[in-house]
Amino acid sequence: MSVSLPLAVVRDGALRDDFPGLVNADGSPWHYLDTAASAQKPRQVIDAMARALGKDYATVHRGVYTRSAEMTLGYEAARRRVAGFIGGREGEIVFVRGATEAINLVAASWGGANLREGDRIMLSTLEHHSNIVPWQMIAGKTGAAIDVCPLTEDGRIDLDWLEANITPRHKLVALAHVSNVLGSVLDARRAAVIAHSVGAKLLLDGCQAAPRMALDMAALGCDFYAFSGHKLYGPTGIGVLWAREDLLAEMPPYQGGGAMIERVTFARTTYAPAPQRFEAGTPMITEAIALHAAIDYVGALGPDNLFAHESGLAATLRDELRNLNSVRLFGPDESAGIVSFALEGVHPHDLGTILDEEYVAIRAGHHCAQPLMDALGVPATARASFGLYSDESDIAALLRGIERTLRIFA
Ligand SMILES: Cc1ncc(COP(=O)(O)O)c(C=O)c1O
Repeated sequence: MSVSLPLAVVRDGALRDDFPGLVNADGSPWHYLDTAASAQKPRQVIDAMARALGKDYATVHRGVYTRSAEMTLGYEAARRRVAGFIGGREGEIVFVRGATEAINLVAASWGGANLREGDRIMLSTLEHHSNIVPWQMIAGKTGAAIDVCPLTEDGRIDLDWLEANITPRHKLVALAHVSNVLGSVLDARRAAVIAHSVGAKLLLDGCQAAPRMALDMAALGCDFYAFSGHKLYGPTGIGVLWAREDLLAEMPPYQGGGAMIERVTFARTTYAPAPQRFEAGTPMITEAIALHAAIDYVGALGPDNLFAHESGLAATLRDELRNLNSVRLFGPDESAGIVSFALEGVHPHDLGTILDEEYVAIRAGHHCAQPLMDALGVPATARASFGLYSDESDIAALLRGIERTLRIFA
């Protein structure tokens, strides 16, 4: 097995040393292949979070004292950093709890204001439940209906089918930029052109793309983009909704409370402009500051390098798995760093349990994509997903564990 890793620092272990979570209690390396679920955190992020919770801590926006003013500057600097990272503008960045909340916000606010009986929403077979259920909920309230774009044979969203079947009744298209199960990468630019050709808006679920590839909102041409901080090497409890400024300006608030108002009386309340209108209550202050540190970390390595590094590992793993007769592989040959597979006669949960004994962590299950499992004709898959700290030793440990599992079940 040989693979050329663009991130040379991974090879000599220097980068892995930044991640305290990658070591077992006995000091041995933990082969963490579940980064698509949540990424391990570098010390830089942990330290930023500790500082923000410790000596720098105060609330934002409200205080007249210096510490609060400084925290407010830190919180808004995080918004600017996110905007710079994805090629957006500060006013287009709404801090939310995660991608799930971002999509629920768009469905409830934009969907509630714009969808009517007879309208249609286009999803795809490979969507995560977070990009299905919010649309079912708003469809139920508004009378809109949902259509599902199928996949190509190798597991990509079939944009030829989309182009042939989209109609002016479709008001919204919501697709995963990178599949959390198959690793397939959407041609987002083409999806935007197709959606806009009938006047529909395009929401991209960027949960698996934001940690793995360079993003530029203007170049993508979408209308909404959602992702989570914890998959981008930042903390849990924070995520980002990017939305075009003109759309945000017209969207009604999602939640009511402090910080999102201009003036409150019992007779009438007026709201703050976006993005504050969508950030009701005390925000995720320390999480935003730690997300800033995570983006600095990823930004210094270069998102294009991360993509090349992880997709190289995914290609290597696919080649190795193909050599084992009893493995079924899902998804396209070229993908982001996510590989789903099944071993003949072995339930993915059994594989996951045996691998755990060897300090290898994979994900086994439906990956919050039950309609995709139905389409693949399996109840579950095993999934290995790479991060910027992954290397060949993780693949070697996984293969040793798979071979042992196959011997046990033979
Ligand atoms: C493609 C995709 N969309 C949405 C989500 C939901 O993210 P979160 O649970 O962080 O809100 C995930 C998480 O696994 C995901 O992989």
